Parts: sequence; structure tokens; C-alpha cells
Amino acid sequence: MSQQSSQGVSRRGFLKGSGAAVAASTVVSSTEAEAAAPGLQVVSGETSITMKVNGKSMTAKVEPRTTLLDVLRYQFDLTGAKPVSLDGSSGASTVLVGGKAVMASTTLALAVARKEVTTCESLGGDVVPAAFVEHDAQQCGFCTPGFVVAVRAFLNRHPDATEEQIRAGLNGNICRCGTYANILQAVISLVKGN
Ligand code: FES
Repeated sequence: MSQQSSQGVSRRGFLKGSGAAVAASTVVSSTEAEAAAPGLQVVSGETSITMKVNGKSMTAKVEPRTTLLDVLRYQFDLTGAKPVSLDGSSGASTVLVGGKAVMASTTLALAVARKEVTTCESLGGDVVPAAFVEHDAQQCGFCTPGFVVAVRAFLNRHPDATEEQIRAGLNGNICRCGTYANILQAVISLVKGN
């Protein structure tokens, strides 16, 4: 079969062209990098940034396109946040940046330079994972770290949340095993203090 279509576009040429388009859409300019981390000069290639992760100052080498999730997992060996959905739709990569829940998979590492990051690894002694265990709120557990961080962030802002508010507050996290009912009970028990 000829690689050249009737329109004169080969399959290989199409793939090369579409790949270039995807790459072009994900390029981060130095201007954007500067806006994300004021004062940090990034033109191209790698640069070193520091961030405080779980109370410890850590340094990473990043390119403008490097995500926070890449840094956490592959440079800091903090693998709790999961690369389930790189567009952030699963919520499995949820971490806190400056106390606010964000998806590490869609957050550029440069935007976190000099900021405080909290991952699920620091919540081992927190009441949230204990409540998940108590209420059997996980099966495969793949979504659990993201849920635990999201619940912690939610309860920090809404310690007296209603069931309706809990449902709405956690709707950015998905559990493929479908443990929502038990997660809900875990969070309700935390709000009630039992
Ligand atoms: S426990 Fe398996 S995805 Fe939630």
C-alpha cells in the first residue's frame, strides 16, 4: 500500500505533523516560567529549584515542562501521588501547595519553586488515613493517597461540613473501585469527631 494518500499526505507525515503540533501546544515559554516563579531566570534546558516538601527543603533539576508530579516521584522518591490521569481528572495526584489542594500532574514544577508542598507521605499520623482504615474506604488503594490529601484539605476549610458539602468538596477525585460510600462515612465520622 502506498504511504501517500490521494491528498498527498503520507501517514508518517501526518503523525510527524500532529506530534509537532502536540509538542508546540505544551511548550512553556520563558515568560510563562518567569510568571510562575518570579525572579527565576529560565530560558531553556534544566535549572535547579528548591521547594519545601513535607517540611524539608529539597532541590530538583527541572525543565520548563517538568511537572510537580515528575519531581515528587522521580527525583524525591515520593510515590504516593499517582500518575493515574495526566490531565488531573482522577485527582490521584492531589498534593497541597501552600495548603491548597492541587493536581501535581498538571502543576509545573517551576510554579512551585520556593513554596511548601505537602504530600500524603506526611499524613501517616493524621486522623484521615486512620478513618479510611476504620471505615474500609479503599480496595485497590490507588485513589486513596489523592483522596486522603483532598479530605485533609477539605476538612481544613470545612471542619463542620454537611454530607452534601462533603460530596461536593470531593467531586474532583475518582475511585475506580467505587468505595465512595465508605469514603463518605470516613469523612462524616471525622466531622462528627468519632
Ligand atoms: S480503591 Fe481502587 S481506585 Fe479507589
